[in-house]
Amino acid sequence: MIYDFKLLSIFLFHKTVAVIVLVSDYSDYFRTLPSLIMYNCKPLVSAENIDLDLFVSTLKVSAGYDFSNYSEKSLRRRVAKVLGDEKLDQPELLIEIQRNKKFAEKIVREITVNTTDLFRDPAIWKSLKNTVLPSISAMPHITIWHAGCSTGQEVYSLLVLLNELNLLSKVRVFGSDINSEVLGVAQRGIYKWRFNTHYLENFRQVYADEGLDLATVDALFYKYFTIDEKSDVIKVNDIILNKAEFVTHDLVTQPCAFYSNSFELILCRNVVIYFNSTLQDNVFKLFADKLDDSSFLLLGLHESILGSSSNLFEKKEIGYIKR
Ligand SMILES: C[S@@+](CC[C@H](N)C(=O)[O-])C[C@H]1O[C@@H](n2cnc3c(N)ncnc32)[C@H](O)[C@@H]1O
Repeated sequence: MIYDFKLLSIFLFHKTVAVIVLVSDYSDYFRTLPSLIMYNCKPLVSAENIDLDLFVSTLKVSAGYDFSNYSEKSLRRRVAKVLGDEKLDQPELLIEIQRNKKFAEKIVREITVNTTDLFRDPAIWKSLKNTVLPSISAMPHITIWHAGCSTGQEVYSLLVLLNELNLLSKVRVFGSDINSEVLGVAQRGIYKWRFNTHYLENFRQVYADEGLDLATVDALFYKYFTIDEKSDVIKVNDIILNKAEFVTHDLVTQPCAFYSNSFELILCRNVVIYFNSTLQDNVFKLFADKLDDSSFLLLGLHESILGSSSNLFEKKEIGYIKR
């Protein structure tokens, strides 16, 4: 009854407002009415109306994260989504970020995109297996950095290939991300299965055309991963679990503070796509600084090195080598 009364008063209030806005923007008003009621009369903030500079500077001053050189379009979209999900308007969001460090961290987690897969883009993993990893296999020690590794599927994909090439004993693998929560998931190596059945399909493509029958390829997959249909999970097996070191690291604000001074391979896939060209350039310079000559940098399928750092690298097959 109380609830009905609340709805009725909301409706009457909006009906009055609707008459006022009739001349100007009547259709828009009714388009947003359901969401206004759902969000307790809080108008949804559209991506274009967000004061992005204010959001970015608040996050920087209050929590030390610097999103000023992230791609504006995708950042606007993410912030608009956060406002909707949190049912806050922008001033309320900013006050809460200033007041509560944990909340600020949660917002950072929500504005970063964490999508990843086991053996994402199978052709790339096939080339890693057949070309890139064999080219560094003779080195006495191999250090590999996955920058922006999210929940770790990329790291485990590589560990599988390294073990199959008998390289595991001489590699040190780091996985880093700005978001410590996804790294917790990475560390545990347990993922949902029902929405990720394509992991196995990706793997089959990596090992396709090698004269192996499907049963043999699948058996290889199950050597590294256990699927529990009942609990709807896929777990990383002990053979590669705990073989990587996961570390919280912000590519923007901690450019120099990493653990090894030289890497034979850096993977930074589907991360710089969210950065503007200035930030991309800074990150590529950091990678150039951390890679040995002729060492390999692998970016995402839709990412490439442009701008002033492009003379530091040479395009080679699926990635870049440091000049
Ligand atoms: C789309 S995921 C890519 C995951 C994986 N590399 C892949 O391609 O499947 C992008 C990751 O970059 C991370 N990221 C965004 N900004 C970052 C920064 N400044 N420093 C480190 N990681 C960052 C996000 O938290 C997210 O987990």
